[in-house]
Amino acid sequence: MKSQTLPQVRLHTSYQILVNQSHPLPPLAVPDLAAPDPACPDVLMERHAAALLSACIRAVNGAGKIIPVSGWRSHEEQQQIWDDTLTKEGPVFTRNYVAFPGCSEHESGLAIDLALAAPEIDFIRPEFPYTGVCGEFRRLAPRYGFVERYRAEKQSITGIAAEPWHFRYVGVPHAQLMEELGLCLEEYLELLRHRSLQFRSENGRRAKVQYLPNLSALPDNASGYRQLSLDNAGGIILTQWEGFV
Ligand code: DAL
Ligand code: ZN
Repeated sequence: MKSQTLPQVRLHTSYQILVNQSHPLPPLAVPDLAAPDPACPDVLMERHAAALLSACIRAVNGAGKIIPVSGWRSHEEQQQIWDDTLTKEGPVFTRNYVAFPGCSEHESGLAIDLALAAPEIDFIRPEFPYTGVCGEFRRLAPRYGFVERYRAEKQSITGIAAEPWHFRYVGVPHAQLMEELGLCLEEYLELLRHRSLQFRSENGRRAKVQYLPNLSALPDNASGYRQLSLDNAGGIILTQWEGFV
């Protein structure tokens, strides 16, 4: 992988960053972390993603019913989970359900595994159904910037089996666009290499999302609010919101 540098943008705030087997997380400072649920103080996420997750859980009255099980993991923790799962479950299960150390979204602080509250929760494959409060969370999640990252039909692209419990913060409008277009993150970033996308929110705010090969391609029309994210595949994603400064 080519290394990328982007002055003034901290890499862990690159919310659209691609992390998978062929796109390892570049060496990073530990992100600014916070617990999305004070009842689970050891489960941490990048601070902004944590705030949005809490808001989404509150919006469905999910406190105490939706449990954050695993958030940010150090590289060492991911290695430990890989090693333990390999010993207990063997290589096929491990490759399907545990990202190779260095290639896990959990190491970025932008991923969270959620469970429906139960006396016993499986740490590797928690129950997070499509019905009830979990279903309501799932429907609302894109508005808060979260996508269900590993769907069965995308396994050949993501390399990971269906994980209904693993949510990834990519921010808005990206999560809504991915949902609307039925794309996983790999497909979404690939599409953006070929065309820009427009988004209009329910309250009429408009955003444009586009791919930049490098920072010198940044347009100068600096009105509105702009966000940049490295894609970890050599480019930059620019999000511009109109009429909002
Ligand atoms: N379970 C996901 C793939 C991870 O280990 O990052
Ligand atoms: Zn996960």
